[in-house]
Amino acid sequence: MKFGYFDDQKREYVITTPRTPYPWINYLGTQGFFSLISNTAGGYCFYKDARLRRITRYRYNNVPIDMGGRYFYINDNGTIWNPGWSPVKTELDGYECRHGMGYTIITGKKNGLKAEVTFFVPQDYNGEVQQVVLTNESNATKSFKLFSFVEWCLWDAQDDCTNFQRNFSTGRVEVKGSTIYHKTEYRDRRNHFAFYTVNDSIDGYDTDRDSFIGLYNGFHNPEAVINGKATNSFADGWSPIASHYKEITLAAGETKTLVFILGYVEMPQAEKFEADGKTINKVVANAMIEKYNTPEKVKQGMAELRAAWDKLLGVLNVTTPNDKVDRMVNIWNQYQCMVTFNLSRSASYFESGIGRGMGFRDSNQDILGFVHQVPDRARERIIDIASTQLKDGGCYHQYQPLTKKGNADIGGDFSDDPLWMILSVSAYIKETGDWSILNEMVPYDNDMSVAETMLKHLDVSFYHIVNNLGPHGLPLAMRADWNDCINLSCYSDTPGESFQTYTNPKFKNEGGYSKIAESVMVATLFTYTGPNYVAILKHLGKDDEAAKAQAEIDKMKENVMKYAFDGDWFLRAYDATGAKMGSKECEEGKIFIEPQGFAVMSEIGKAEGADIKTLNSIDKYLNTKFGLVLNNPCFTKYYIQYGEISTYPGGYKENAGIFTHNNAWIICAEAYAGRGDKAFEYYSKIAPAFTEETSDIHKTEPYVYGQMIGGKDAGSDIGQTGKNFGQGKNSWLTGTAAWNMVAISQYILGIAPDFDGLRVDPSIPAEWDGFKATRQFRGATYNITIKNPNHVNKGVISMIVDGKAVSGNIIPVLEAGSHDVVVTLG
Ligand code: BGC
Ligand code: NOJ
Repeated sequence: MKFGYFDDQKREYVITTPRTPYPWINYLGTQGFFSLISNTAGGYCFYKDARLRRITRYRYNNVPIDMGGRYFYINDNGTIWNPGWSPVKTELDGYECRHGMGYTIITGKKNGLKAEVTFFVPQDYNGEVQQVVLTNESNATKSFKLFSFVEWCLWDAQDDCTNFQRNFSTGRVEVKGSTIYHKTEYRDRRNHFAFYTVNDSIDGYDTDRDSFIGLYNGFHNPEAVINGKATNSFADGWSPIASHYKEITLAAGETKTLVFILGYVEMPQAEKFEADGKTINKVVANAMIEKYNTPEKVKQGMAELRAAWDKLLGVLNVTTPNDKVDRMVNIWNQYQCMVTFNLSRSASYFESGIGRGMGFRDSNQDILGFVHQVPDRARERIIDIASTQLKDGGCYHQYQPLTKKGNADIGGDFSDDPLWMILSVSAYIKETGDWSILNEMVPYDNDMSVAETMLKHLDVSFYHIVNNLGPHGLPLAMRADWNDCINLSCYSDTPGESFQTYTNPKFKNEGGYSKIAESVMVATLFTYTGPNYVAILKHLGKDDEAAKAQAEIDKMKENVMKYAFDGDWFLRAYDATGAKMGSKECEEGKIFIEPQGFAVMSEIGKAEGADIKTLNSIDKYLNTKFGLVLNNPCFTKYYIQYGEISTYPGGYKENAGIFTHNNAWIICAEAYAGRGDKAFEYYSKIAPAFTEETSDIHKTEPYVYGQMIGGKDAGSDIGQTGKNFGQGKNSWLTGTAAWNMVAISQYILGIAPDFDGLRVDPSIPAEWDGFKATRQFRGATYNITIKNPNHVNKGVISMIVDGKAVSGNIIPVLEAGSHDVVVTLG
């Protein structure tokens, strides 16, 4: 069942009922001010840091779900409704929500009155603009009352939802004309305030929550709205809100447009107040208000936003025989990648914005998805991340975006972390040709006095793996690898111990983690990633170092084949007792997805057919109608030697859920191996646009990836196997976005930046006649036509660039301007 449709022309997803199977959200803002907004206008705003500068309040895991947002209430002679249906939930005569690139338009109709609200955060602006267009579509004059509403958060979102003994007594507001100011703690130690304004006179306001809503009422029946009049209340301590009240009369056919602005302002200490020392200095706020206080200015702001997204999405554009692929590649997957760039893993409807910092591995992987859109910011991000690395190549697992320092609470010793940086730096150089990044002096642990070149950081990353091998010559698993839930040194039997940070004291003498447990996944990630480092060294003329690194890769491949090939697939790990994990010999968890794709793409055991055997085993044991499960069979009991993975009921998360992030690695591997049909089959099982038809099962947004989809074993724990099979979770902030962007654009469509040019090597469904692509690359634009006359999956037989045959499949770097490329498969 569908709950809307894609409007590709406008780059919007149009939701046609407010009763989506889960709140379907969008993100506004790309620079400092961010908003999350659901299809019923729920959500919240923050400035830069979702924890420390939360502007409006939101209560996660609420009942009902998604209560709290920016709400407009209309009281039309006793009929009370919201344009976005919620929270009053009066049945509307018309409803539509258009989520677009950085804006959302929600339209509701009731009793001949239409209210269309456009929400967006303009470029270079610290505020959310809300344009409300009210039209009387009836034949008679209409008089009604409009109330706006937001609830202020007391800045630190964590403190805001825990420290009530203080917070119930700190709220402060100011009202001037049509502007309501939230100045809680502004007098004391804060240099920031927020405001909510409207570009018209008002007939009243409320700033105190209990006066507006009533202590025993809710968002769905605020007393002031029911009574049809604001109370002009002042919050003093207790909970500050902002609500404007306006009486409106519209003749038949008449339209009235109001522009509301929710803004955030920082002031230098000396300029915080007017002469009386307590009234807010509004110079900056007024200038902000001035910027968008007319419909013409709003129109201009929207046009600028559109132009910014045209530019971001203009780098890569494809026309394939499948419109779902086109809308993923051209619009939504790229959009989601930018959101992961901006938000990392901080604030979504599944991430509270108060938990995690930026992940070392997560942020490096995100680069792969957006480097072509914002190469300069990718460079800056890479250097930020690398600056938190330790001198021995180890990494803090997370860092805080505000301080840009490694997070000591979580610490390090995640075995995969350093490798992702080799990948992100390579991706950056391949995209831009900017080798100078390697000469950049980058600190260790933020200490500039021990800075070394970025190249040296790659070196310590590579050798951090080589220098930490276990008994089989495979990388030590340490606290966890990519799979945070395989905790082989944890052995936790006490509630509350964090699987990610707790290591059993029995490993204390060994340096904090087992020197026996080894990760096959890190081994194959090493053999997949390492060749990039070798290529970089060769490019720099460092042939000896390149040969030395290559020898390590070759040795690792040998060890993997010798000790970690289980006959038909690769093992997952050796646990701390030296027993195999992910083997036929195991009772549960016989096969895991993570090591396989990288092994295939590293051609480990290819001569013996290990690659095809492995891919066939994945198809046989992990493939389901909704995607590939992470492991099989699922764990049905707690394995103390494995840790968190065995704590989830079967079919969820890392315990045999369909973890869409690692599905991409198999899609890449199938494409690499030339099996374009299989690659596309797997892709089309998880790519959001393909889940649209089954949105009632999938539940989360059909325009963005989630981290996971319920696996075939979901429900088995309660004897209802298949319950929640196919149900998406944790949408938006996931490495899935970047990796599936790579899978579809670089492996299936096969347009992949390489060190020396743009590689074109598609691995597509045989039935396709071909496709077209436009790719901006290092200053030039390539118009690429792929022809597939013989209906093969893969294999470039000729490439013609600007009318001239070029051998191989790499388009060399050409001068600026437009170039025509025709590639024939056969
Ligand atoms: C989740 C992982 C996540 C980890 C760290 C675990 O509970 O299952 O997906 O990476 O926590 O936050
Ligand atoms: C989510 C984390 O953000 C990511 O870093 C990790 O790789 C996956 N979970 C798998 O555990």
